[in-house]
Amino acid sequence: MGTDGRFGGAVPPERQISAGFIRARELVEAIAACGRSAEFPDRGVSRLALTEPDRQARELTAKEMRELGMAVRTDACCNLWGVLGGVEKGPGVIIGSHLDSVPEGGDYDGVLGVAAGLGVVRDLLAGQPHPARTLAVVAFTAEESSRFSLATVGSKAAAGRLTPEDAERFRDARGVTLARALRDFGGRPEDLGKEPLSPKDWAAYFELHIEQGPVLDRTGDDVGIVEAIAAPTRFMLELEGVQAHSGACPMDLRHDALAAAAEVILAVEEAGRSEARHGSVATVGVCECHPGAMNVVPGRVVLKVDLRGIRSESVARMRGAVMAKAVSICGARGVACRLTPYSSDEPVAMDTGLTALVEDVCRERGVSHRRMPSGAGHDAMFVAERIPSALIFVPCKDGISHSPKERIEWSRVQAGYEVLREAVKRRLFP
Ligand code: GLV
Ligand code: MN
Ligand code: MN
Repeated sequence: MGTDGRFGGAVPPERQISAGFIRARELVEAIAACGRSAEFPDRGVSRLALTEPDRQARELTAKEMRELGMAVRTDACCNLWGVLGGVEKGPGVIIGSHLDSVPEGGDYDGVLGVAAGLGVVRDLLAGQPHPARTLAVVAFTAEESSRFSLATVGSKAAAGRLTPEDAERFRDARGVTLARALRDFGGRPEDLGKEPLSPKDWAAYFELHIEQGPVLDRTGDDVGIVEAIAAPTRFMLELEGVQAHSGACPMDLRHDALAAAAEVILAVEEAGRSEARHGSVATVGVCECHPGAMNVVPGRVVLKVDLRGIRSESVARMRGAVMAKAVSICGARGVACRLTPYSSDEPVAMDTGLTALVEDVCRERGVSHRRMPSGAGHDAMFVAERIPSALIFVPCKDGISHSPKERIEWSRVQAGYEVLREAVKRRLFP
């Protein structure tokens, strides 16, 4: 009986579980321990970018790259590259994703794509000691906005869209600049933007990622072929009221920043609801209340707002609606409101040629699949600005992600992994 055969008889070689897939799973499981608290293991992983747990995950990944005979290097933005030179001239193939997580996140977001990439390298090397063209696996730095309020940092840098000034401007909650954190990790923030990826060197970028939504889990399809990625528009709203004694300050004299923020949060939700028919969404994911004491009327609140859609006009309408509402809510309450933009990215289409290739592979292999948009942001958004890119989704249980409850079924992920491997192979041995 083959490794996944239940009824005896030969399992076709392409359906057997490959050494690369087994190793990818082991690597995901090893990295899941980086950033998991021994005291609270059910709180998921907190592996914020450029922190100690991120360093540990990078070390495990680099070790695997070395074992595969890849040359390991990091670039100015600390993106971790494993590269295997090709025997022929011509543009190569990159497989990538990220290793950082949100606070209290899941085990698979990003990590699965990096580990699957290394699994594919292992499998392809088993049949052929050297790829025809150069093959690289990359773990991009800080895909999550959780630490520096800036997402897809490494892939923005790889696309030449991050400047040394940006790295000085974005800071974490403790005031550490992105530039400083990069430098502490061996990066060179002063060189950001100098060496963008070039289509002369690279023919294709592939990213495999959990869907992070419920579509594949509900439909039973094993693979999602992403056509377009919704891009986030993000900003901070600072609401400045008047801090006062919660016992002594009468209700009609208050300028409570938190009460104003509560109305603004509902306005953000309403803006998302009114654009839901276009697939847009709106979230306030951070609400910091100062000074944060039970007997003090809050004087200052910081909200962080995340608006997304695959139609720019819809995102623009949400932004306009949120601002108009915030101004009127705060005006009525005598609370000042200040907006600081973080980022405003455009929705991005994936490469039609690569998308068709992935679809052909699914059809040929009898893998159930569907074309779909991505609501979540991904490194592929920025890589796609420079080189043809494809994003392949695999299902996650109940569509839950950015949560300790993020789960996958490896037996379903196998189909997506094999589609990735075959698509990479066709671009690598053209
Ligand atoms: C990345 O996880 C995002 O926030 O979309
Ligand atoms: Mn994520
Ligand atoms: Mn991700």
